[in-house]
Amino acid sequence: VSDAPARPAASSGDHAIDRFLDESRDRRLESWKELLRIPSVSALPEHAADCRRAAEHVAATLRRIGMEHVDISDTGGHPIVYADWLHAEGAPTAVAYAHYDVQPVDPVAEWHHPPFEPEVADGRIYARGASDDKSSVGILLQAAEALLATRGSLPINLRFVFEGEEETTSEHLEPWLAANRERLGADVALICDSGFFAGNVPAVTVGLRGIMYAQIDVRGPFQDVHSGSYGGAIENPANALARIIAGLKDPDGRVLIPGFYDDVVPLSDADRAAYAALPFDEDEFRGSLEVPALVGEPGYTVLERRSGRPTLDVNGIWGGFQGEGSKTIIPGSAHAKVSSRLVADQDPERIFDLLRDHVLRIAPPGVTVEVRDLGSGRPTLTPIDDPWARAFATALGETFGQEAVFVREGGSIPFVAAFETLLGLPVVILGFTPPDGNFHAPNEWMDLANFEGGVRSMVRYWDGLASGV
Ligand code: BES
Ligand code: MN
Ligand code: MN
Repeated sequence: VSDAPARPAASSGDHAIDRFLDESRDRRLESWKELLRIPSVSALPEHAADCRRAAEHVAATLRRIGMEHVDISDTGGHPIVYADWLHAEGAPTAVAYAHYDVQPVDPVAEWHHPPFEPEVADGRIYARGASDDKSSVGILLQAAEALLATRGSLPINLRFVFEGEEETTSEHLEPWLAANRERLGADVALICDSGFFAGNVPAVTVGLRGIMYAQIDVRGPFQDVHSGSYGGAIENPANALARIIAGLKDPDGRVLIPGFYDDVVPLSDADRAAYAALPFDEDEFRGSLEVPALVGEPGYTVLERRSGRPTLDVNGIWGGFQGEGSKTIIPGSAHAKVSSRLVADQDPERIFDLLRDHVLRIAPPGVTVEVRDLGSGRPTLTPIDDPWARAFATALGETFGQEAVFVREGGSIPFVAAFETLLGLPVVILGFTPPDGNFHAPNEWMDLANFEGGVRSMVRYWDGLASGV
C-alpha cells in the first residue's frame, strides 16, 4: 500500500508555499480525514447532528487558520458556515463555495471499507464525500491556510460559504443568500463542486444541466388483492405504471412529452466542434461501465448526450411483491421516481407541468394517478471566454503541467443560477475530483495527487487574480 501521487508533484508557483505544503502534508491529511469521518448525510434526519458537527469542524478550522468573521448560520435546515478575509486592498473579492454534506451510503454492503473510516491506498483516499464535495472543502481551507501561514495574508479578498444541503437541493441557501446580500459583495463566485474530465484531465466546467424531479404514484384497489379472484376485472397499478413509463420515451430515447424540446437551445456548430475536440474514448467509457453497448438520442455523440442534451430517466420503481418466490396479488399501488436533466433554456417548472399533463393524459382508466414535484434546478452555461474561468484554466495548466479543457457537465448544482441572478456575479464552476471517483456510489474515492495539486492550483489562481482579470 502506497500513497505516492500518480502525477508529478505540482507547484503553486511560490517556493515558500510549496515547502510549507510538502512539510505539512501528513498533518493536513489527518485534519481533512477528521472531516471525512463525520457522516454528514444531509438527506437523513438521523444525521442532522452530524451535519452540525461537520459545520462546526469547518468553522473551527477556519478560525484556526486565521479567517475572520467565522459564523455558523442556522437556516431551519443544516447550517451554513461563513468566513472572510478582506484585507487585500485594491484586489478583487471572490466568494468561494463548497458543500460539506454528502449522499447516503446505501448499499453499504458494497463498500470495501466503512464509508466513514477513510482508507488510503495507491494514491487514493476512499470515503463517502472524499470527492463530492469534501475534497473542495479541504482544498479551499488548505489553500487559505498555506497562504496565511507563510505570508500572513491572502492575495485577494475571500468570502467562504460552506453549505450542508446541496445533495437535497439547497432549500435554505437561496433565502440565506438573499438575506446576506450585503456580506456577499464580490466580483466573482467560485463554485467548487465539479471535477476533472475523462482520463483525469484538468478541466473548467462551463455548463451544468438543470433538473426536474418527480414522483408518480399509481393507485388501484384499496389494498393488495388476490390476482386470481380479481385479475382481469380491474386495472393493475404496476401494469398501468409500466404503460405510463413506456409512453415517456420512444425506443430511440427521444422524450415523447409534447413541448419537452420547445425551449432547448440547439448545439451550435462551435459547440459541437468543442465537444469533438475533447479527448474522449467512447469504447473505454463503455468498458468502464461494463455495459454491452452505449445508447441514446440519434444524431448526437456520447459526450453531447451526456451534457448537451436533455434526458428523462426512471431513478426508482417499486410496487407489489418483492420477496423470494411468488405471491399472487394485484398490488394496491405502484410508484416511480422520474427525473429529467435539463439544458438551456428549459424551465424546470414548465417541464414538470408538461410531464404531469402527459402522464395524466396517457394513464389508463381504472387507476388514479398523482404526479408530485420533488424539486428542481436550472441549467447554467458560462461563456467559454469568461476571463475568470480562463484565469482558472491557466492556473490549472501551470500547476498540473497539462492544459485544461473546458467542458459541460451532465450533473446539476441547482443553486448556481441564484449566485448569478440574486448576487449578480459571474460564476466559475470548478473542482479537482477524478471523473470516475464513484460519487453518490459505493467506494467513493479522491485522487490524492489531484487533491494536492488542487491546493496548489487554488493558491496559483488567487495569486493570478490579485491584479484582476
Ligand atoms: N457535485 C455534484 C454535481 C456534479 C455532478 C458536478 C457531476 C459535476 C459533475 C452535486 O453534488 C450533485 O450531485 N448534484 C445533484 C443535484 C441534485 C441532488 C438536485 C445531482 O446532479 O444529481
Ligand atoms: Mn457536489
Ligand atoms: Mn453530489
